[in-house]
This record gives sequence, C-alpha cells and structure tokens, in this order.
Amino acid sequence: TWCTEFNAIHIDPLEKKWIAISLAVVGLFVAIITLDALFHGINPPSKVETIDSASLHLSTEFAEDKLGVQTDAQGVITVRMVAGRYSFFPKHITVPAETPLTFRWVSMDVLHGVHIPMTNMSTMIVPGYVAEITTTFPKPGEYPLLCNEYCGLGHNHMWSNISVIA
Ligand code: CUA
Repeated sequence: TWCTEFNAIHIDPLEKKWIAISLAVVGLFVAIITLDALFHGINPPSKVETIDSASLHLSTEFAEDKLGVQTDAQGVITVRMVAGRYSFFPKHITVPAETPLTFRWVSMDVLHGVHIPMTNMSTMIVPGYVAEITTTFPKPGEYPLLCNEYCGLGHNHMWSNISVIA
C-alpha cells in the first residue's frame, strides 16, 4: 500500500513529524469548514439586493432624475448614486450634518469602490448589486468621495464631492 511505501522511503524523522503536523492542520481546517457548512449551511449572504446594471437609466430608483439626495415624508434621507467609468453621479451632493443618511450605490459598468477619507465609510460597488450604507457625518465640511477599486485608466480621477452643512 501507499502507506508501507511511504514508510519505506527514507525521510528524516523530524521531517516526518512536520509532514504529519501540516496534514493535521489541513485536516482540521477541512473539518471546521465541513462542520460549519453542516450546521450553518453554505448559502450566499442573505438580503442581497440585485439590480440590472445595464438598464439603470430605466429603473424606478436609479434613473438620472431620481439620483441625489431625497427626503421622504417621514424625514428619512436617502442618497442615491451611480458609479461609472470614471465618475460618480451626481458629481456633487449636499447633506446635513448629525443626521442619519442612507447611501445607495450602484455601478453601471465594472467593479468600483467608494471611500470617504477621514470617515469609516468604505464599500465595494459590485455590478448587479445595490451597495447600501447608513452613516452620519458628525461635522460640517467638504468631503471627497473616492473610488478605491481599480476600474481602469481613469480610476485616479474618479471622485465626487459631498458638502456637509450644519
Ligand atoms: Cu471606479 Cu476606480
């Protein structure tokens, strides 16, 4: 058998020990993944929101005239933006400070990211999915909104501005 053949090959005992240890570690990882799959199931993350990136201009939510900052009857503020090579649309938004804001981003083409320096806000914008983040700007000021996923030659120039007012 392979086992007796394996034993017949001369391998330094210390090396054999380490082979056994590394196999045990791999086995442990496989066991953890298998048990996790058995008890929690292997599924895509729940509550993912999909959207057809190719027809955003026809969608009820992300058509051009629906983008930007909107306040509903209950006073809840939603900011809708489209990312595309190489800009965010709209290019500039104005939002209030110290107010919860729900950002909803979609991509019209490839993978983009969004990062607002000096805040903890950062997410990927995957084509076909809606990226949503709720946040509050504590202080008024001018904040850039940058693309942080390489998306092509114009990636470095892909940004927008947020004016946070008191
Ligand atoms: Cu969009 Cu980098």
